[in-house]
Amino acid sequence: MREVTASAPGKINLLLRVGRPGADGYHPLVTVFESVDLRETVTVRTVRSPGIQVRTRARSADGSVDEAASRQLDALPPERHLAARAARALQRLASAGPWASTAAGVRLDVDKRVPVAGGMAGGSADAAATLLACNELWGLGLDLGQLERIGRTLGADVPACLVGGIALGTGRGDRMRLLRPGRPGSGDPVSGRPCATSRGAEGDHVWALALSDMGLATPAVFDELDAAGGPGGGWAALAEPDERLTGRLTGPASALAGALANDLTEPALRLRPDLGETLDAARRAGAVDAVLSGSGPTVAALARDEEHGRGLARAWLDLLGPREADVIVVGGPAEGARIEAESSSA
Ligand code: C5P
Repeated sequence: MREVTASAPGKINLLLRVGRPGADGYHPLVTVFESVDLRETVTVRTVRSPGIQVRTRARSADGSVDEAASRQLDALPPERHLAARAARALQRLASAGPWASTAAGVRLDVDKRVPVAGGMAGGSADAAATLLACNELWGLGLDLGQLERIGRTLGADVPACLVGGIALGTGRGDRMRLLRPGRPGSGDPVSGRPCATSRGAEGDHVWALALSDMGLATPAVFDELDAAGGPGGGWAALAEPDERLTGRLTGPASALAGALANDLTEPALRLRPDLGETLDAARRAGAVDAVLSGSGPTVAALARDEEHGRGLARAWLDLLGPREADVIVVGGPAEGARIEAESSSA
């Protein structure tokens, strides 16, 4: 039996500009992703029975297993579980190539730290880690560019989770250009809240993240934007960030302040007005700046450094009061998908 473990980071969007949707319903995007030290871990094992088995363990902010969320994810049909779809895509390749004899069944164990339906690309990170792990398991020898091409057929955020760091995404947000590489880090926040980070290098970012118990469906947020006729009621032509903006987004926290922007904020707040209070509370708690991550509901608040991040998380939680939110602290930019362990046994 062979076994490979890989991990991939969740992300926040530092910049998310949305253009008028095309005939396929997808919106052209200009977005800048930052991968953060909150990682999904996927272990893939060869098994005798053909097909793909998935077991998912979803974790709460404090690291404990959320049984109800885990059961819900395991009840998804395989075509809706991005990790299963990623394994299927590589299994097809493996069975078509000279590796056919090795392309037997596979079992996936998905350990989730990124909030489900949180706007942080948790499902895409599952797919990215699975692609990398299955590539290794079956010895396919695909390079990052080839995995990205397969990844974008699974979901628009999969390439970002493969590449990591701070990256510009265009097209559907799936054509990547790395702006700043990620830093290796454990990516495994210590249990409890707020989570520990190990960030200190110049230009590292420390984020407090307010996680919501209730997810937001990405298509619903895009639909809401369409119903309003675009961001601010109109569709503007999209432009890639110029050098100055790119420099700010990849620079230290002081440069990032005031540069964060997300066109999905208005529609997400119409669906979830409470998120407006979460954003306000972040600023009142002393955040350098705050932004909705992707389609939400996760809100990311930027701290000056790690110590400030811990204080910010506490102050923010106090302001949020009994609301069903939790706050953790993570660092970025994090490394993209990577192999964690490999083993073979008779
Ligand atoms: O690609 P992915 O499956 O992650 O996208 C989820 C949904 O988000 C899509 O079904 C679509 O409704 C919306 N979306 C979009 N334009 C994009 C990316 C996502 O409309 N560029």
